[in-house]
Amino acid sequence: MSNKVVLAYSGGLDTSVSIRWLKEKYNLDVIVLNVDVGNVADPSAIRQKALDIGAVKALVVDAKEPFVNHFIFPALQADAIYEGQYPLATALARPLMAKLLVDAAVKEKASAVAHGCTGKGNDQVRFDVSINALAPDLKIIAPAREWGMTREETINYAQRYGIPVPITVKSPYSIDENLWGRSIECGALEDPWVESPADVFTWTKSPADAPDKPGYVEIGFEQGIPISLDGEKMEGVSLIQRLNQLAGEHGVGRIDLLENRLVGIKSREIYEAPAAVVLLQAHQALEALTLSKSQLRFKQKVAVEYADLIYNGLWFSSLHQDLFAYVKSTQRYVTGTVRVKLFKGSCQVVGRKSPKSLYSHGLATYDKGDVFDQSASPGFIHIWGLPVRTQTQAQGIIDLEEKKGKGK
Ligand code: ARG
Repeated sequence: MSNKVVLAYSGGLDTSVSIRWLKEKYNLDVIVLNVDVGNVADPSAIRQKALDIGAVKALVVDAKEPFVNHFIFPALQADAIYEGQYPLATALARPLMAKLLVDAAVKEKASAVAHGCTGKGNDQVRFDVSINALAPDLKIIAPAREWGMTREETINYAQRYGIPVPITVKSPYSIDENLWGRSIECGALEDPWVESPADVFTWTKSPADAPDKPGYVEIGFEQGIPISLDGEKMEGVSLIQRLNQLAGEHGVGRIDLLENRLVGIKSREIYEAPAAVVLLQAHQALEALTLSKSQLRFKQKVAVEYADLIYNGLWFSSLHQDLFAYVKSTQRYVTGTVRVKLFKGSCQVVGRKSPKSLYSHGLATYDKGDVFDQSASPGFIHIWGLPVRTQTQAQGIIDLEEKKGKGK
């Protein structure tokens, strides 16, 4: 059995303290793995910090491209949004980190992997379920779930061992960031009645301070994947970065959600997800143009399942594989352009077009060129209304007024 552990390392307080704690408690040699999913400003500084604290090796992986193409875009094609609002930024990054942790553990011949999650959140579930699915024999250690230290005690521990305490620790918030969004909790946000203070937001302008002139952006999609902004072809990573900037400037993408964690706790979370909000809305608008009514109805049900399985840590499940096959099939004609208006915190679709559009001007128009056969409607309505007519004749008309009275 090797005495090596690969620790998912963000450079923050908990994972920094974990380097030392894993050595003390389990006498393990700690190899850290920093995964850049669009949240790392200076990878070499993070590497050096880990080595200074006592890691035997520090690995850095730029995972932005696979994160976008294998995690974000499939979720976008699925319209995956948790509890009606959360685009799942944090949740989507965890299975990728788990996969990279497992790969590193195999390569480094480590007997264990570790992550900085506490025992109260969803992230521990996402890490553990994914790691177990990929490498059932790998031991998992979650120091922050085991050590039982408060925030204060963790800071003291860091100071005792000369572990630099990042200035961000002074911030009362717990923050997780990647390309698809920023998740913020704790501090004043723990009172769900309190409006989030201005200092919570760093990606989005306050709508009040946003430009007085609306911004417009045209997003080109091919089979449900965004491929261009304003006609300029772009790779996924830069497209999302650019859109985060642009929509954030107009105050778009702020979300205040009281959500249901998998572990049974209700928690209040603030999200900033400018690109995600715009792309999800634009994608749905293009689907409205290119999918039939029944395809849309069914896909909306799948979207709820899809979001739940991402949130609940089941990325590597067969159910996911099956649902993705369905989602992929639905996207074959979701190609075209959506025009979005960004204005003081709001994002509105104001135009859509597609070479595979199901919209027929001839059928819809009330002007010249109408091709709809109105004489066929009475026959259709006669049969459509048949069961209602039959029932009211046999059983009478439902008295809505009486129902209301009884309820009181
Ligand atoms: N509630 C979100 C989720 O479960 C975000 C969790 C991480 N948030 C944070 N501020 N650390 O995906």
